[in-house]
Amino acid sequence: MLSVTVLLASLLALHAWRCAAVPHNASYPLGVSDNGRHFITSDGQPFFWQADTAWALFHRSNISEATTYLDDRASKGFNMVLAVGVSMFGPADPNRFGQLPLVDFDITQPNEAYWAYVDQVYNLAWERGIRVALVPAWGYYIHESNNVPGDGNVTVDTSNAYAFGKWFGDRYPDSPKILVADTNPYWTNKTAVSADYTSGGVPQTYAFTDYGPVYDQLAKGLQQGGGPNSLITIHPTNQWFSGGPIATASAFFDDRDWLTFDACQSGHADYAPNPPIPWWNARRGYEPVQIMYGKSGKIRPVLDNEAHYEARYDNGKAGKPYWNASDVRIGSFQAAFSGSAGVTYGADNVMQWYIPGLYTQDGSGPARSWSEDIQLPGSSQIQNIRKVLTDRKAYPNLVPDPTVIIGDSGGDDNRTMALRAGDNSALIIYTPTGAVLKINVSCLDSPITASWFDPLDGSYTSANVSATYNATASFVPPTNSTHLDWVLVLEA
Ligand SMILES: *[C@@H]1O[C@H](CO)[C@@H](O)[C@H](O)[C@H]1NC(C)=O
Ligand SMILES: *[C@@H]1O[C@H](CO)[C@@H](O)[C@H](O)[C@H]1NC(C)=O
Ligand SMILES: *[C@@H]1O[C@H](CO)[C@@H](O)[C@H](O)[C@H]1NC(C)=O
Ligand SMILES: *[C@@H]1O[C@H](CO)[C@@H](O)[C@H](O)[C@H]1NC(C)=O
Ligand SMILES: *[C@@H]1O[C@H](CO)[C@@H](O)[C@H](O)[C@H]1NC(C)=O
Ligand SMILES: *[C@@H]1O[C@H](CO)[C@@H](O)[C@H](O)[C@H]1NC(C)=O
Ligand SMILES: *[C@@H]1O[C@H](CO)[C@@H](O)[C@H](O)[C@H]1NC(C)=O
Ligand SMILES: *[C@@H]1O[C@H](CO)[C@@H](O)[C@H](O)[C@H]1NC(C)=O
Ligand SMILES: *[C@@H]1O[C@H](CO)[C@@H](O)[C@H](O)[C@H]1NC(C)=O
Ligand SMILES: *[C@@H]1O[C@H](CO)[C@@H](O)[C@H](O)[C@H]1NC(C)=O
Repeated sequence: MLSVTVLLASLLALHAWRCAAVPHNASYPLGVSDNGRHFITSDGQPFFWQADTAWALFHRSNISEATTYLDDRASKGFNMVLAVGVSMFGPADPNRFGQLPLVDFDITQPNEAYWAYVDQVYNLAWERGIRVALVPAWGYYIHESNNVPGDGNVTVDTSNAYAFGKWFGDRYPDSPKILVADTNPYWTNKTAVSADYTSGGVPQTYAFTDYGPVYDQLAKGLQQGGGPNSLITIHPTNQWFSGGPIATASAFFDDRDWLTFDACQSGHADYAPNPPIPWWNARRGYEPVQIMYGKSGKIRPVLDNEAHYEARYDNGKAGKPYWNASDVRIGSFQAAFSGSAGVTYGADNVMQWYIPGLYTQDGSGPARSWSEDIQLPGSSQIQNIRKVLTDRKAYPNLVPDPTVIIGDSGGDDNRTMALRAGDNSALIIYTPTGAVLKINVSCLDSPITASWFDPLDGSYTSANVSATYNATASFVPPTNSTHLDWVLVLEA
């Protein structure tokens, strides 16, 4: 009798657990377009991914804060938030309510109270039209730079990754998944590599461990809940050892069916943190995007999952200037004009959910509350990228076409970039510098209408097109004391 009661109680508990979770909703999952370039909603409409980064949202917020945050982000057009399940603060760090994510530091024993709050915030987001791209567990639990995963307490390995992935995928079947973060499947002792280089050592050939099989098990588990077309990528670091694969998801896992979208982290530094380790330059965040977009073989939507955060110091180092709205706007426009399927914004204090007096700020930017920094200007401007693209009748059929720019396009964050409508109905040109644009308009039928789009407020003003232009036309951007960058929209 006792055992029956216990059994019944546990069945009921399991049942309650399932109901409390997030119900499958057929309109939540996103898919990939037939040409592999962009995301689509369940009814086939193109979806431009406009993400904000709030890694610690589930871990450090309470419900009124999460509501304030999501209301703000929804009002600024964000349709995606990046957040983590088992956080980067370690398995012994409780959430706002004193709960740990796991029971007995066991990755296969989720603590229901912890995840019930995750569900609550996930549902709050969806009520506002915001999906959550979930990192099930930070890369730290598979391979940390000190080579002690999860500080020795919790390890995700081939013995448990499938079970954890399956549990996670069953609970959140509809959301896009980002495997791990800030790491790579080939890991070695990064501390030692950096130390060697900074002491002037010659780059060596390092032994590395291939953690790919752990990723495979995790992905396989996630697919049990979300199905074979689940959106899954990995989120690599921005630097890696000489001679290793470049740090994009596809450079490691191009042959895996579970990799349904490609991603990189162009990162926060405009100098090599540990020269000569290869790294992505934050002022050329478009570079990995172009590499992913232009690679041969399987075509997938591409995203820069982590570009320089607004109000984060260059390389996260105090004493360096911090990235401002202009920097993050330029980087995101350039990524989108390089063919990315969306953009990722982040603000340093929002990403880590800093609350003065409650948490220790990590020193990577000026310490201000998350609630102050949700107001940073870049967060309002980023929606204008989506606007200027989706306002075109040819959207999403827009392809990067640098050949229409005559003369020097500039380098780094001065680089001018162009998108051409596949049906030649439009050219859209982004200039970060406000220099005169000389454009080869011969692909457009005349007459052409021309307008300037203001990347800060999203307004259009008509531009003059010379009545007798030849194939090459010059356009002089307006001047405005608050910004140099403009988008020229030419439509046939
Ligand atoms: C799915 O989500 C949409 C959008 O929030 C909502 O309108 C709809 O009622 C939901 N469907 C179910 C079955 O919950
Ligand atoms: C959440 O925390 C804030 C302090 O940041 C506090 O003012 C508020 O009352 C809390 N809300 C709830 C529901 O506990
Ligand atoms: C978890 O790891 C930390 C850091 O290594 C250690 O101080 C702590 O005692 C560990 N906790 C448990 C429960 O093993
Ligand atoms: C990693 O390298 C650092 C620097 O050489 C060293 O202090 C540390 O013990 C190494 N860790 C492991 C786990 O090998
Ligand atoms: C933003 O920072 C850049 C350097 O990264 C600087 O050139 C620019 O003037 C700054 N813009 C504003 C508006 O402060
Ligand atoms: C971008 O323009 C600024 C201002 O003219 C200049 O200082 C910088 O060197 C330029 N950078 C590149 C890569 O052209
Ligand atoms: C302009 O583009 C056309 C193709 O659309 C090309 O044939 C022509 O050579 C280009 N003209 C210049 C000046 O680049
Ligand atoms: C300058 O740009 C700002 C931001 O887009 C806009 O609000 C303002 O109206 C512009 N000023 C002029 C004189 O065009
Ligand atoms: C457009 O041309 C008219 C007439 O030449 C001129 O008055 C006006 O300033 C021009 N506008 C722009 C934005 O160049
Ligand atoms: C356009 O090109 C023709 C032929 O090359 C040339 O005669 C004419 O002067 C050009 N017109 C302008 C406005 O540049």
